[in-house]
Amino acid sequence: MKKILLMLITLSLLACTACGDIPMDGEESEASKTESTTSIADESVISQPENNTSVQESTSEKPDDTSEVVSETESSVSESESAAESEKESEVITQPPVSSTPESEIIIDTNYAIELSDEEIKCINAGANGEYLILVNKENKLPKDFVPENLVDIRKTRGDRAPEKMVYTAETALNAFLKEATYYGHGDVTITSGYRSIAKQESLFNYYVSQEMASGKDKASAEAAASVYSAYPGTSEHHTGLCADMHNLPAASQNFGSTEAAKWMAANAHRFGFILRFPQGKQDITGYMWEPWHFRFVGIKHATAIYESGLTLEEYLATEAEVG
Ligand code: DAL
Ligand code: ZN
Repeated sequence: MKKILLMLITLSLLACTACGDIPMDGEESEASKTESTTSIADESVISQPENNTSVQESTSEKPDDTSEVVSETESSVSESESAAESEKESEVITQPPVSSTPESEIIIDTNYAIELSDEEIKCINAGANGEYLILVNKENKLPKDFVPENLVDIRKTRGDRAPEKMVYTAETALNAFLKEATYYGHGDVTITSGYRSIAKQESLFNYYVSQEMASGKDKASAEAAASVYSAYPGTSEHHTGLCADMHNLPAASQNFGSTEAAKWMAANAHRFGFILRFPQGKQDITGYMWEPWHFRFVGIKHATAIYESGLTLEEYLATEAEVG
């Protein structure tokens, strides 16, 4: 029964404009494509994670999104499937959630240092019935015209760029998360990337492929290498407007993961409804290398269950599917 209810809710979110943060909107999608094309000329810095503890940075023309990282060093990086292989359209699925911890044993931590508004509390607690558990990954691609509703400016976007966007409920929870982070001394963490149109992701992905080719790889190898850290267009959960990249470095880097700020973020995100979407050592499951900067909104109940279980979103949803 719970499973049926969740599926209905998901379908409603995808198809209905009246109730949702993430239904489709073809017209918006076209507008986004225009926007993404113009951003490609912007100059920014790309940072590669350390092999031997040094960040390799190069200045180059690339899409205005410095939240992606090229890792040539992570030992767990396997040759991922060609990005082209993931082109096949597949349905967006949201499966009923479960945790290895029985629901009754999950303790929701609401012991916040900051004062939360009623609206912030409401948003942090949203999604208890799985409304924000949409799964987008290499196997679960979004339709080309998918555009979430209720996108708003992310208030704490890094100062050197135009406000990034996020679904209202997630942004409200995110802002509370960042206020709490500031209270604990991590006020320098800002948002570098939120919602991305599929066209914008295409520019970004193609940019990384070209960078990989510039280092000597053929196209197939370049796509495989890029797809470890950048999603093929249509398969990025940035399309959902429910995730954001955040850090305090010039560009996203796995170096962020060893900072006090990143450790605090990873340990406290669930209290605000977020999960670290691509944890360390889970590349074989998520398809992506460790991204200590990428947080995804699912609502406090499921975020807490996922955090406590140590599961990835893929595992969490699959476990529930088995049970349900
Ligand atoms: N960097 C993540 C995987 C993305 O491109 O969506
Ligand atoms: Zn991201």
